[in-house]
Amino acid sequence: MNAIKKLGVLVLLMLMPAMAIASGAGVHLDKAPVDLKDKVSLQRGAKFFTSNCLACHGAAYMRYNRLKDIGMTDEDIKLLLPEGSKPGSTMQAAMDSNSAKLAFGTAPPDLSVIARSRGQDWLYTFLRSFYADSKSPNGSNNAVFPNVGMPNILAGLQGGQELRVESHDGRETKKLELVAPGTMAAAEFDATIGDLTNYLVYMGEPAKLVRYRLGYIVLGFLAILFVLVYALKKEYWKDIH
Ligand code: HEC
Repeated sequence: MNAIKKLGVLVLLMLMPAMAIASGAGVHLDKAPVDLKDKVSLQRGAKFFTSNCLACHGAAYMRYNRLKDIGMTDEDIKLLLPEGSKPGSTMQAAMDSNSAKLAFGTAPPDLSVIARSRGQDWLYTFLRSFYADSKSPNGSNNAVFPNVGMPNILAGLQGGQELRVESHDGRETKKLELVAPGTMAAAEFDATIGDLTNYLVYMGEPAKLVRYRLGYIVLGFLAILFVLVYALKKEYWKDIH
């Protein structure tokens, strides 16, 4: 009996992390379709980012000319440059941080490494989870980031969403429902935010692309080294036996 009790406690302990996650903040995060090898998606994400996010946010660790890493040409990059910027400039916010703070209550943070601090699934879900909220000063709220200071700048594309709270057996589930169409169909909007998330992940660690390549070079080098060292060992030991 005692052994069975002990086993029970052990099983419970093993299950605890899973139960903690299940009872956590209760927001389900959708899986972001991130693929750093898909350069066309990264380029679409870069274009969307520079034209929709840099109005308020900066990306101070990112230079425009580094977009060549994801296959953009000098001509492509020139089209993204704001007035007065050079290809070697870092991505600055159009709005200065003090006026942004006055307008939104919080200064929009730099997004250079946001994918590393928040995680890709969080970003992908956050950017698709704005909903209309008459109690909020800017008329919108977010299911993933309650009372966020960021206005719903994506409403035109996504359409208007409303939050529905349903109660089943005393448990509340929150759901977002599209109530007014945007200029994009739902699947198209999700794909666009997928590209944007892909780009944010790339921007957080652009060296990753280089590292993939470096990994293969290092492995190849080690393989050649192994063959040489093995041949050398044979040569040295040949006379001893
Ligand atoms: C009109 C200004 C504005 C625009 C345009 C804008 N944002 Fe924001 N954003 C904000 C503000 C203000 C905050 C800070 C909100 C807070 O902390 O309450 C914010 C917060 C965020 C956060 C959460 C940061 C964190 O971890 O605290 C993310 C992620 C984000 N924005 C991404 C984006 C992306 C991606 C775009 C482009 C599609 C974008 N934003 C466009 C104003 C803006």
